[in-house]
Amino acid sequence: MDRIAINGGARLDGSIPISGAKNSAIKLMAASLLTDEPLRLTNMPRLADTMFLGKLLQRLGASVVESDGPDGPQTVLHTPEVLGAIAPYNLVRQMRASFNVLGPLLARTGQAKVSLPGGCTIGARPVDLHLKALESLGARIELHEGYVYAQAPRGLVGAEIEFPFVSVGATEHALLAAVLAEGTTVLKNAACEPEIGDLALCLIAMGAKIEGLDTPTLTITGVRRLTGASHAVIPDRIETGAYACAAAMAGGDVRLVNTQVPFVQSLLDKMTEAGVQVDADAKAGEIRIRRGPERLKAVDLVTDPYPGFPTDLQAPFMALMTTAVGESHVRETIFENRFMHAPELTRLGADIAVSGGEARVRGVEQLNGAEVMATDLRASFSLVIAGLAARGETTVNRIYHIDRGFERLEQKLGDCGADIRRLKGDGEEP
Ligand code: EPZ
Repeated sequence: MDRIAINGGARLDGSIPISGAKNSAIKLMAASLLTDEPLRLTNMPRLADTMFLGKLLQRLGASVVESDGPDGPQTVLHTPEVLGAIAPYNLVRQMRASFNVLGPLLARTGQAKVSLPGGCTIGARPVDLHLKALESLGARIELHEGYVYAQAPRGLVGAEIEFPFVSVGATEHALLAAVLAEGTTVLKNAACEPEIGDLALCLIAMGAKIEGLDTPTLTITGVRRLTGASHAVIPDRIETGAYACAAAMAGGDVRLVNTQVPFVQSLLDKMTEAGVQVDADAKAGEIRIRRGPERLKAVDLVTDPYPGFPTDLQAPFMALMTTAVGESHVRETIFENRFMHAPELTRLGADIAVSGGEARVRGVEQLNGAEVMATDLRASFSLVIAGLAARGETTVNRIYHIDRGFERLEQKLGDCGADIRRLKGDGEEP
C-alpha cells in the first residue's frame, strides 16, 4: 500500500490549481444514465472515486471516454441502452455514492437492483431518506440479502417530499429520479450544497425543468425524456478549503486558483478570525492565503449544512488548531463518528480530547513527525496538514483514502515547496 512521507517545516509559496469537485462529478456521472444521448462533463477530476463509478457505469452499458478536451480534462458518458440495471455489492462497497445510480436506473428503466452501501468509518450512514423519497415517487421498494429491489413499471409519479433533516445524498437522489417522473415534485427542506445546484444545472441543460435552485425548496416538473448536454463541473470547495488550511498551517503565501470564493466563505471567516491573512477575489475565483511566523489564535467551530461550516473541512481545520494559541472546541453535528483523525493527530503531539460529538483542542507550540494512519478521505488530509508543520518526518499510511478525493496532491504541494513524496507499496521509494 502506498504511503506519503513529509519532511515538515517548509514554507509554502506559489499557486495551487483547484480541480473539479469530486462530490459533484460523481452525481453528474450518475445523471448520464438518464439519457440515451452522450453527456460531456468538463473540468473533471481524475480520482479513484470517478474511476470506480466509471467502472460501474460501464457495467450498466455506458461508454466512458476520458480525454483532454479543449476545456481541459473531460469525460463523455453515453448509455444508449441500460444493460441489467444491477449495481453489485463489490462496486457499491468501494464507493457509497454508487448507490445514487438507483434513482436514474429506476427512472429510465422502471426497475433496479442496487446493493445497500453499508456503514463506513465516519458513521452508520443509513439510506432510509433516499428510499422513502423514491417510495413517495411511486416506487415499490423491497430489501433482500443486502440489495434494494426497486420497481416502477408504469414510471415514477411526482409528489411532495419533505425531508425531516437535511441530506445531501437524499436530495440529489430525489432530484435524479423526479426529473423523469410524471407531474410535479416539490422537495422541501432540500440540501443547498453547491453540488446540488451544479447537478440541477446539468439536468436543466439536459432538458429537465427545475425551479428554486440553491434554495431549500426545489420544484421539478417531470419531462418525458432528457437529452445529451455539455456541462462544466464546479470547482471543489473541499479541496479549496483543505489547501487553504495547509497553506495556513505551513506558513507562506499561496494562491488558490480556479475556485469559487462564496463556496468556502464559512471557512474563510474562521481562518480570518484565527489570524490568517485571507484575500479573496470572487470575480477572478482566487484566494490568497498568507501567514507569518506568529502563532494563530484558537477559534471554536460547529459543523452545519451549507452555508454553515462543512463537515468535510472539520478535520483539516482541527489540524490547523493543534498549534494555535489557546483552546478550541470543535463540534461535529453531521456525522456521529467523525473524529478518527484525533488520535492520529495526537501521535504527532497534538493535545486533543474527544467527548461525544465535541473535541477540545489545546494548542501546542510544536508538532513532531511520526508514523500515522489515514482513516477516511478528509481525515487523511488533516494528517498531511499536520505533517507539513511537524518537526521531522511524518509518514501517512493507507493513502488510498486520499487518492479517492485529492488529485495530484504531492505535485500540488510539492510545487509550492513542500518536501513531500509518495512511497510505493511496502514503503520503498518508486
Ligand atoms: C455527502 O454525503 C458527501 N458525500 C459527504 O462527503 C459530506 O460529508 C456530506 O454529504 C455532508 O456534506 C458525497 O457527496 C459523495 P448526507 P451524504 O446525506 O450525502 C444522515 C467526502 O469525504 N442520513 O447529507 O452521505 C447521515 O447518516 C464525503 O467527500 C440518514 O440518516 O451526506 C448523516 O448523519 C464524506 N439517512 C446526515 O444524514 C439518509 O437516508 C447527513 O448525511 C441519509 C443521510
